[in-house]
Amino acid sequence: MVSADFSVHPGAVFAEAIGNDRLDLLTDYPFTRLATLLAGVTPRANTAPVLLSVGEPQHPPPALIDEALRANTAGWGKYPPVGATPEFRAAAGDWLTRRYALPAGLFEPERSLLPVSGTREALFMLALLAVPPRKAGRQPAVLMPNPFYAPYEGAAVLAGAEPVFLSGTRETGFLPDLDALTPELLERTALFYLCTPANPQGAAASAAYLAKAIGLARQYGFVLAVDECYAEIYLDTAPVGALQVAAGLPQGDNPWANILVFHSLSKRSSAAGLRSGFVAGDPLLIGRFSRLRSYANAGMPLPVVAASTALWRDEEHVEENRRLYRAKFAAAEAELQGRYGYYRPDGGFFLWLEVGDGEEAARRLWAEGGIRVLPGAYLSRNNPGEPNPGERFIRVALVQDAETVGQACAAIVRILG
Ligand SMILES: Cc1ncc(COP(=O)(O)O)c(C=O)c1O
Repeated sequence: MVSADFSVHPGAVFAEAIGNDRLDLLTDYPFTRLATLLAGVTPRANTAPVLLSVGEPQHPPPALIDEALRANTAGWGKYPPVGATPEFRAAAGDWLTRRYALPAGLFEPERSLLPVSGTREALFMLALLAVPPRKAGRQPAVLMPNPFYAPYEGAAVLAGAEPVFLSGTRETGFLPDLDALTPELLERTALFYLCTPANPQGAAASAAYLAKAIGLARQYGFVLAVDECYAEIYLDTAPVGALQVAAGLPQGDNPWANILVFHSLSKRSSAAGLRSGFVAGDPLLIGRFSRLRSYANAGMPLPVVAASTALWRDEEHVEENRRLYRAKFAAAEAELQGRYGYYRPDGGFFLWLEVGDGEEAARRLWAEGGIRVLPGAYLSRNNPGEPNPGERFIRVALVQDAETVGQACAAIVRILG
C-alpha cells in the first residue's frame, strides 16, 4: 500500500499544458482506453456485438418515470433549487430509514440529504469540499480502493491531493485492508472513498469493517465517503450500509459525524439517463456541500426530482430488477462452472474474472466473439512493489438479458479456454 508514481501512467499527456496541468496526471478514462485498445479490431463477420463493458443496465426503466415527467412539465421552466424539494428529501430519507432499519426519526432529511445529478458528479465535487491545502503540515492524501471507480482518482488529483490506492485482492476479501493503514498516512488523510458493494469485485463491507472505517475517520478527522450505489443489486442478503452501522455505534450529538453515503437510481432503477441520486449523512458536511453546490452544481431539474421521488417510494420495480439479475447470474454460473476464479459477488452486477492477461483477453473476446468487456487494469493502478490487482482480470457487466449473458459466457469459455 504505497502511493503510485504518476509519471509512469500509460496514456498520460505531457505536452505543454494550458491551464490546470494536474489533468495530465490522469490516464484516459477507462472507456476511452478500451476504445483505443479495440480500435482497428473488427469482430468476425456475423457476430452481433454484445456490450458488457459499461455498467449501464439495459432493463427498460420503470414506467413511473414517464408518468412523473409528464405530470410535471411546468418544472422545465424553473431553475432547480440545490436541495430539490421537501418531498424528494422525505422520499429518499424514508427509503434510507426503511432500507437500513434506522431508528425512527434519527435521520433528518432536511439537514442530512442533498440531491445529486447522478452520484458521479457529487463524488467528484466532494474532493473540493473535503481536501484542504495541507493536512498535518503535508500534502493531503485521498484514500481509495484499487481497483476503483475512476472519478475518485480524478477528484483527488484535481483537488491537489495525493491519491493513495489501497489494493483489494482475494486475500483482503477484495476490500482495502484497513489494518495496513499507518498513522502517518491517516494523519494526512482528508478523504477516504470506500465502495460497497465494490465495483468491480462485488464485495460488500461487513458491519465490523464499516465500524472500523468510521472510527478511523473520526479519530483522524477525515471524510469517509461511502459509495453505496450498488447497494440494491444483490442476490441473497441486502448489504449493510454505513449509516446503519453508525446508528448502532455509541452516539454523541451527531450520529453521522464524518460520514457521507452516496446512492443512485442508475442501478437501483435501471435509470442511468435520469442522472439522479443523493448524498446523505453528516449535517455539517451536508450544509457545507450545499453551499459549495450553490456555486457549482447544475441542479436536478424539477420534473426529474418528481420522477425520482416516485422511484424512491417504490420497491416493486427494484424487486423485479433483482429477480432479473438473479437469472443472469444463474445463466453465467451455468456456463462458467467456476472457471477464472468465479465467485458469487455480495452485490452489484459484475463478474470479476481472472483470465491471465486482462487486456489480451478483452482484445480476443472482441475480435473472436464480438464481446466487449473491460480489462481490469483500466480500473486499477500500479503500486511500486505490488502486483497490479486488476491486470489479470476482466470486468464483465451483466447488463444484457439472461439469455444473452448465458450465450456470452459460453463464448468466453470457448474463446479463452
Ligand atoms: C462505483 C460507482 N459509483 C458511482 C457511479 C456513478 O453512478 P451515477 O452517476 O449514474 O449515479 C458508478 C457508475 O457506474 C459506479 O460504478
